[in-house]
Amino acid sequence: MSTNIYAIIAREILDSRGNPTVETMVVFESGYRGIAAVPAGASIGTYEAVELRDKDDKRYRGMGVLKAVNNVNTVIGPKLRGMDGLNQGVIDTTMIQLDGTPNKAKLGANAILSVSLATAAAASAQQRAPLYNYLNALFNTLLPTPIKRMPTPTLNLINGGKHGAGNLDFQEFHVVPATNKSYHVGLQMGVELDHILNDILVYRNAVHSVGDEGGFAPNLFTNSEAFGLIMDAIKQSPYTFGVDIFLGLDVAASHFKTQGGYRIKDKPQELSPKDFVKYLIELNRQYRLLLLEDPLDEDDWEGWRELTAQIGKDVLVIADDLVATNAARLDQAIAQKACSAVLLKPNQIGTLSEYLQVVAKAKKAGLATIVSHRSAETNDTFIADLGVAVQADYVKFGAPVRGERVAKYNRLLQIEAELFPQ
Ligand code: PGA
Ligand code: ZN
Repeated sequence: MSTNIYAIIAREILDSRGNPTVETMVVFESGYRGIAAVPAGASIGTYEAVELRDKDDKRYRGMGVLKAVNNVNTVIGPKLRGMDGLNQGVIDTTMIQLDGTPNKAKLGANAILSVSLATAAAASAQQRAPLYNYLNALFNTLLPTPIKRMPTPTLNLINGGKHGAGNLDFQEFHVVPATNKSYHVGLQMGVELDHILNDILVYRNAVHSVGDEGGFAPNLFTNSEAFGLIMDAIKQSPYTFGVDIFLGLDVAASHFKTQGGYRIKDKPQELSPKDFVKYLIELNRQYRLLLLEDPLDEDDWEGWRELTAQIGKDVLVIADDLVATNAARLDQAIAQKACSAVLLKPNQIGTLSEYLQVVAKAKKAGLATIVSHRSAETNDTFIADLGVAVQADYVKFGAPVRGERVAKYNRLLQIEAELFPQ
């Protein structure tokens, strides 16, 4: 039963925003196969690997991915054919060399990642092992990591910024179950709070729609009002704030950074970078945040250092756009003590091997890790297995509603039942 690659077939499918994305099937000579689909971001960091779009206005308003699909079918596929699909490192290195650019701009990170992930999926099928086991074995070669626990979900209940049709500056308002809760209990808490929050928004007549990640997108006066509503929901629930449940925030600050500082609707004037750091410290004092992601602009290294020095022990200061799952950026963040945690998205870097290297580097540096989706997802559940495989502290898959989000939460329920039966 040869594990050599027999065929690689890519096609264009739709993501949860209705935009085209790449789905690829890798078939081994043995007949075992794996399929993977690539997600897409809206608040894309400057330092991410390049997502190749056709920019042909006649199709999907320029968002088509036929060039990336074609790169898989006619460039990557023929090159990898006959190579051993169990050798993930060689497969990924071959694609990196074939692309030849530092940010995968030639073939597209979407093209390359789809092949990288589908190869791993086929390999785990071939070995008749659950995907999380196969990925854990790969990760163990970098950093021995026995699977001891399920990651804790962080649930995005209110969507603002680039993800919400409402008027909030901050991108994501989360509830985070205490890490001592088992996974399914934490998930249940998140769902119950989501539904209570819905009732509160209806009662308040706060007209809302639903944002890209399944959270509510209400029209509110300030960002802190959004926290106020979540606190109300917690009060109406059986759970105790600060014991059972905590708050988290993805500020996604790069998107409201101005020339001179930061402008948010909670303050009448633009805040200087120094004053914005003070504002964040005060916000943390008020809401005792557990997670604080992208509190500052992706190039505001001084602000990141200052904030992490002041509150990085009490709250996980999470680098998303700052590091962009990039090893060189992570080295810089570690050297500068710019964050206490890192968000890890496979399509920011473009191959599974590089992704696992970045996770291992973060863990060795003592940073907390969060395996994350993108705002536009498919029903692919690869990242659920990945979160378990690398023993991420948290997983971030959006609100606990909508098919493309619950697909991943449900996959974790399956894994929990397999590994930690009650
Ligand atoms: P994105 O948002 O997928 O639109 O980049 C997710 C995030 O910022 O964490
Ligand atoms: Zn983010």
